[in-house]
Amino acid sequence: MRVFSSLQLLSLAFGVSAIEQRDATLAYNQLQTWYNQSIGLWIPSTGWWNSANCLTVVANLATTDAAVAGKAEAVYDNTFYKAQEYNLQMQKTDEAPMYLVQSHHGAHLPKHKTTGFLNDYYDDEGWWALAWIAVYDVTGDRKYLRTAESIFEDMAKAYGTTPCGGLWWSKERTYVNAIANELFLDVAAHLANRAGAKSDYYLDYAKREWSWFKRSGMINSQNLINDGLDNATCENNGGTVWSYNQGVVLGGLTELSRATDDARYVTKAKIIADAAIANLTDSNGILHDVCEPDCGADGSQFKGVFARNLQILQQYSPETRYATFLEHNADSIWKYDRSRRGNKLSLIWSGPFIKPANASTQSSAMDALIAALAT
Ligand SMILES: *[C@@H]1O[C@H](CO)[C@@H](O)[C@H](O)[C@H]1NC(C)=O
Ligand SMILES: *[C@@H]1O[C@H](CO)[C@@H](O)[C@H](O)[C@H]1NC(C)=O
Ligand SMILES: *[C@@H]1O[C@H](CO)[C@@H](O)[C@H](O)[C@H]1NC(C)=O
Ligand SMILES: *[C@@H]1O[C@H](CO)[C@@H](O)[C@H](O)[C@H]1NC(C)=O
Repeated sequence: MRVFSSLQLLSLAFGVSAIEQRDATLAYNQLQTWYNQSIGLWIPSTGWWNSANCLTVVANLATTDAAVAGKAEAVYDNTFYKAQEYNLQMQKTDEAPMYLVQSHHGAHLPKHKTTGFLNDYYDDEGWWALAWIAVYDVTGDRKYLRTAESIFEDMAKAYGTTPCGGLWWSKERTYVNAIANELFLDVAAHLANRAGAKSDYYLDYAKREWSWFKRSGMINSQNLINDGLDNATCENNGGTVWSYNQGVVLGGLTELSRATDDARYVTKAKIIADAAIANLTDSNGILHDVCEPDCGADGSQFKGVFARNLQILQQYSPETRYATFLEHNADSIWKYDRSRRGNKLSLIWSGPFIKPANASTQSSAMDALIAALAT
């Protein structure tokens, strides 16, 4: 008869099984079945800004996974050259390209000229800047850092030009929302810690954005961040509390703490993280967005952004409750939200696996796996 330890018995009883590095490698292999080599993007499986998040996930996984690191080099290189060309091409077509139709809740064609990783959405630009920073972090290749810096310049040009303050969502200048402003903070704070002689330049933007953001009204009385500001009054518009809006700010504040040695930013980040976990988890501590199961092409990305940024906070200033949260979510994904054949990961982290799984649901879930593995 086999003798079980009490821990093993517990595991058997409750089906507990900790996520392992090789699971993340398997998830990576599945993600790359959706990678479109000829355009360097995860299209048509997912869209333009989601592809920036896929790239971020690949770079983050490559920092700890030797099996992935070797293969990922070719992905950075291919995406760097091909995706820019694809973006340019898309702007020239008359019919709305698929990724734009699906993105941003039926947004129309951009009217402005675009180059490289720029388009009409400041949030999209922020995602690409962060992706190239993640690639710079793992490769040390400065061309990726320079790309992030040049994307930031395009965002900075519009900073402070809205009647409410802060940054517009898009070049159409119709809405001031949380995500574009959080990404502006996050990119500026990341660059402040990486840009050498130009660090103060970025730090100044990060500080200004945060001192505006915390008083903008976007953070409500429960310390949750709503979608954006009312166009007419510049007050909180009561929009949905999306998981990603509780996430990006955590990375931004952590990088700001690192750049300044001022712990108050991290203290505030923990207040937001705790409020989000209380508001957006089920009774088992698993994260959800209110759109589930119909989150469209954008909402399917959100939860991973929260997990990724909680890990950035966790690495800088650890808390047992965050480690537990990340482990539970990763284990739940692997156990309940995975396809029977292959290693596809789908939208609802508490399960069950639902179709379609795609590069968006996969990369989002992988954010949680990677975060748990790093904890
Ligand atoms: C890659 O993207 C191009 C452009 O959108 C598309 O025509 C092609 O079918 C895609 N390839 C795959 C394998 O999906
Ligand atoms: C006002 O805000 C909404 C988002 O709540 C946005 O969709 C809309 O385009 C904005 N602009 C105007 C001019 O109404
Ligand atoms: C989460 O926050 C929203 C908006 O602040 C609120 O309406 C909702 O009741 C909260 N839900 C939970 C479970 O706390
Ligand atoms: C990816 O899957 C999610 C969740 O099933 C779905 O909401 C989304 O529309 C899919 N994305 C695309 C581009 O089809």
